[in-house]
Amino acid sequence: PPLSEVLNLHDFEAVAKLVMPEKAWAYYSSAADDEITNRENHAAYHRVWFRPRVMIDVTTVDWSTTVLGHRTSMPIYITATALGKLGHPDGELNFTRGAAKHNIIQMIPTLASCSFDELVDAAQPGQVQFLQLYVNKDRDMTKRIVQHAEKRGIKALFITVDAPQLGRREKDMRQKFDAEDPSEVKKTGSDGVDRSQGAARAISSFIDPGLQWSDIPWFKGITNMPLILKGVQRWEDALKAYDLGLAGVVLSNHGGRQLDFARSGIEVLVEVVNQLGKRRGLKFPNEKFQLFVDGGVRRATDVIKAVALGATAVGIGRPFLYAHSAYGQEGVEHALQVLRDEFEMNMRLIGAPTIKDIVPDMVDASHLGAH
Ligand code: FNR
Repeated sequence: PPLSEVLNLHDFEAVAKLVMPEKAWAYYSSAADDEITNRENHAAYHRVWFRPRVMIDVTTVDWSTTVLGHRTSMPIYITATALGKLGHPDGELNFTRGAAKHNIIQMIPTLASCSFDELVDAAQPGQVQFLQLYVNKDRDMTKRIVQHAEKRGIKALFITVDAPQLGRREKDMRQKFDAEDPSEVKKTGSDGVDRSQGAARAISSFIDPGLQWSDIPWFKGITNMPLILKGVQRWEDALKAYDLGLAGVVLSNHGGRQLDFARSGIEVLVEVVNQLGKRRGLKFPNEKFQLFVDGGVRRATDVIKAVALGATAVGIGRPFLYAHSAYGQEGVEHALQVLRDEFEMNMRLIGAPTIKDIVPDMVDASHLGAH
């Protein structure tokens, strides 16, 4: 169908399923075990309801904000997802270019299909990019990746901490028997990852399961970029990150691809805000320690709920993968346009002229079951 008939982010998924190579669909759409967390990620947003204000002047509404000090046209970013070329020959370049058009931040994955430098070179002057880091056992290699990123102007480092081993994505595992399929993925990429055993397996070999809290000072010693942990799932770990002087955490379960029965980010957000408020007197959103959420975000209303509950911004993954797989860069731009239009309408309907007006009393989160 033409892009004009794609009305929302769910539509991209439906189209992508029809047109994508089976192998790519399996890798992008799959989640761990019984995929309960993956389903819950989106479902959890259905338990948060609005308490809109009426009789507010919403002639002009502005949903732009800042993330780690950088302007963004919406409180969202394109999160890191590996192997962009499985879905489209231009790979993650589609995200770089689409993000540029809409002034959105892109998080580049360690295991992008395009080379890191290619993605940085493709950015417009002033365009903000973050880097997602999988920490390799070879710390010299990790150090090289980090310092090169900083030199190339990357503005923040998101260290993935929820993947000491990759989850079992059975849909993806079944694909590895399909040895005849000439996959886009090279057997051994420039990152030295052996990809002959199925996409997820290959990634697993790259990641150090020995990564621990005592490694944090080492990271602080090799870079001045703000450090954020991606994949925190309990307030105790968010508190540790804060106490160690990190710049923030992403409350995320990796799109349900790691531990099945991990809770949704929005649910964890409520307990993190409560406990860090109680124990450290923090108020969110907070400039010094920023909370991000990802997983299952498909509507501007989802984003607005997370912002109301204290998130600075929200990461979106699969919808952009589906958009670029089906329509390339134009698909990514259309996905961002859809979100933009949803923001405009919903900010008016809840009575919030700016992002700062989206405060906790705008939502009823009592059905979330978080405390
Ligand atoms: C991911 N995600 C991910 N995260 C990460 O830190 N490094 C990575 O390489 C990847 N790769 C990846 C591939 C694919 C195909 C998916 C779907 C996801 C997780 C990602 O950053 C994010 O946490 C989720 O995608 C958010 O959930 P939604 O928006 O996809 O529902």
